[in-house]
Amino acid sequence: MQTRYYAITPENRQALAEVGGILRAGGLVGIPTETVYGLAANALDGAAVAKIFQAKGRPQDNPLIVHIAAFPQLYALVREAPMQAAALAHAYWPGPLTMILPKSRLIPDAVSAGLDTVAVRMPSHPLAQAIIQAAGVPLAAPSANLSGSPSPTTAQHVLDDMQGRIDAVVDGGPCEVGVESTVITLAAARPRLLRPGGITLEQLRAVLGEVEVDRAVEQQLAAGEKAASPGMKYKHYAPAAHVVIVRGPFERYASYVNRHAGPAVAALCYEGEEHALRVRAFPCGQRDDPASQARHLFDALRALDDAGVKTAYARCPEKSGVGLAVYNRLLRAAAFEIVDV
Ligand code: TXA
Ligand code: MG
Repeated sequence: MQTRYYAITPENRQALAEVGGILRAGGLVGIPTETVYGLAANALDGAAVAKIFQAKGRPQDNPLIVHIAAFPQLYALVREAPMQAAALAHAYWPGPLTMILPKSRLIPDAVSAGLDTVAVRMPSHPLAQAIIQAAGVPLAAPSANLSGSPSPTTAQHVLDDMQGRIDAVVDGGPCEVGVESTVITLAAARPRLLRPGGITLEQLRAVLGEVEVDRAVEQQLAAGEKAASPGMKYKHYAPAAHVVIVRGPFERYASYVNRHAGPAVAALCYEGEEHALRVRAFPCGQRDDPASQARHLFDALRALDDAGVKTAYARCPEKSGVGLAVYNRLLRAAAFEIVDV
């Protein structure tokens, strides 16, 4: 299969109509969103959705997020939309927030992986919105990486993983947020954060009051323990390089890294810290700016592999604001390996 490449703007009606046609016909398209690139198919077509799992090599028990372009599209997809869903949508949609709700009969089993719920999000990227509108159907889309690799934040990342496996990719430039959306379930007794992302826990609590945090956000699940969000149980976002988080002040981090220096060793540090390190440094955002760390994290993880790095020592992100999402992803990239210095 030849993967078609579209570099377009939302004003490019002709190309958008083509992309919409591919999706309506059951094809797969890599699409830009404000978080990461998605691998989209018609969410109401079980056979099209099945192709997503094939192209990614994704475990069958990991459900997908359904993307909509306007709030009223939600009603057909869910059995009930509580007040809390409307309040969150009012505050943060379109944007990097996914809500889990009881699913309607329109949702194919392939999308929800056999669960009784469905994840829904309204992305804010103008091209994502234009593509959903052009398709005329809601789009199921996981991140457009091969299962297990870091999520793609550029169209080139998508091609690196998916060239020849999907019908088309639409280039919308680098993603603004850089980590996947926040996932919250409203289908449990109390609202619970399943995956931190661009909308912070603090922002969720500002609208809902109490929000629980799922154990899997910061802890490794025990073997056999059931994951509320199946995606959180896999070793995820991981480069081939062995990543270790080194937690402590910069001076101690630097001396630890320098003691372990070697030809295939690298540092995943913050901008401006490179000069103190005697290994190859991959700066990933600014120390006091978690949003900039989020924007650069996955690109930095991919760069480690491109450079043939075997072991990378990473700075430990602060857990406040978007930092919780950076910490959550890096923990998984490091398979939960943390050294305190
Ligand atoms: O930002 C994003 O969310 C991106 C863009 C493309 O929108 N998408 C994305 O999809 O990250 P994916 O498939 O890589 O991650 C979806 C996460 C997984 O952890 C999955 O287990 C969880 O959401 N999820 C989906 N449906 C669920 C459900 N019904 N119940 C619990 N978790 C669910
Ligand atoms: Mg993913």
